[in-house]
Amino acid sequence: MTTQIEKLIQSAKEKAYEETDSAAEPALTSAVEWPVKCNVGLGLEGAVACETTIGYVNGSKGWLIYRGLDCFDLSEFSSFEETSYLLIFGKLPSSKELADFNAKLAEYRILTDEEWKAVNALPLGKGHPMSDLRTAVSVLGLLDPTAEDTRVEAETEVSIKLLAKVPALAGIIARVRKGQEPIQADTSLSLAADMVRMMTGNAPSEEDAKVMDVCLILHADHGMNASTFTSMVVNSSMSDMYSSIVAGIGSLKGPLHGGANEAVLKTLEEIGSPDRVDDWYANARTKKKKVMGFGHRVYKAYDPRARVLQPLAELLSKRHPEVEKYYEIAVKLEGKVISELGKEKKIFPNVDFYSGIVYAAMGIETEMFTPIFAVSRVAGWTARVLEYLKNNRIFRPRGIYVGPAYVEYAPIDKRG
Ligand SMILES: CC(C)(COP(=O)(O)OP(=O)(O)OC[C@H]1O[C@@H](n2cnc3c(N)ncnc32)[C@H](O)[C@@H]1OP(=O)(O)O)[C@@H](O)C(=O)NCCC(=O)NCCS
Repeated sequence: MTTQIEKLIQSAKEKAYEETDSAAEPALTSAVEWPVKCNVGLGLEGAVACETTIGYVNGSKGWLIYRGLDCFDLSEFSSFEETSYLLIFGKLPSSKELADFNAKLAEYRILTDEEWKAVNALPLGKGHPMSDLRTAVSVLGLLDPTAEDTRVEAETEVSIKLLAKVPALAGIIARVRKGQEPIQADTSLSLAADMVRMMTGNAPSEEDAKVMDVCLILHADHGMNASTFTSMVVNSSMSDMYSSIVAGIGSLKGPLHGGANEAVLKTLEEIGSPDRVDDWYANARTKKKKVMGFGHRVYKAYDPRARVLQPLAELLSKRHPEVEKYYEIAVKLEGKVISELGKEKKIFPNVDFYSGIVYAAMGIETEMFTPIFAVSRVAGWTARVLEYLKNNRIFRPRGIYVGPAYVEYAPIDKRG
């Protein structure tokens, strides 16, 4: 029987396809001759860094695929575990392959005594939780005797370890920050459900677990975004997978990237009630402030991930009245931004606009939103690092030097 969540995803998909046809962009979907010709803007806009078969974002249509599979279909039919397998190994697993993969994930999700003690001995909770996570992943790297083995097979195994262990780390971080005892994994649950349980202390309902699973699927990969590129750049020097993922976490943390989900909830709190949206927005525009959770380097259409997350946020906020107000403010703000900037600047909600409302409805603290993004994006980071590693060439662009060509060296007592 089709569940309500599946129906909502189907209807999000229909909306996406009724507004656009889903033709691929030839310039971004055909093999290239190296060296490739492209127009590069600031922030490497338009730069082509590699060829990939992992995923494709059609920004003009609002279309996202992983290994050819539509993100709407994966959200409806798949699981985060299966989607991670797809991204890393290039195909959907058979039943046996999925069972073996899940068994490994279950084994690794339970931190060893050494890992548990080392992570719990860290000064967690003094800085941002993404800094906690970055440090904790680095510690896991120190404890893994295989960490320096950069062969593809060894790095693939480390990728599976990270997929399993990062949610356990997020659980410890969330609880320590609240002054609560951390709890070990319960591998009878899905990775998504167990992550919520390790953070909040309570296993989510079946419906909340499915919604979290969809959130993890939708955040798993997204082209050459800043954190993915960061991970790839680090690994391209033949460094190691832990260092690459630590770097990815550092990049994702920023409010222009994954940190936007946290910033969105702060905005909704600041606005306070739906009747204050107009004034808040007018003030933000006067001050030329960007509205968090809107705009995207690649999407010039409605982000397909936001298409799914919006009705899920609505569903959950109806069932969790403490966040209903945030949903109402968000819908009003979306209307305002789209009416003013949608046509003119192609500014629409992105993945971060509605995800926070979903997490808040599950009782997760705002500061933990970006670590959840990281839990999911480990799949995309590792998949792309592994793909590039198979045909590695160190990344090494140039900067255009616009300073003086020669300055005479002045002794310290002659400097102005
Ligand atoms: C995502 C983002 C970093 C993309 O940046 P970018 O590709 O460098 O785009 P720019 O910052 O150059 O923006 C292009 C134009 O759209 C406007 N714009 C972009 N995002 C906007 C937003 N969220 N609110 C209002 N205006 C926005 C810019 O002001 C700029 O206008 P201008 O041409 O008049 O100067 C940017 O849209 C942003 O900062 N969004 C808010 C943070 C966010 O939600 N990040 C999560 C991304 S998934």
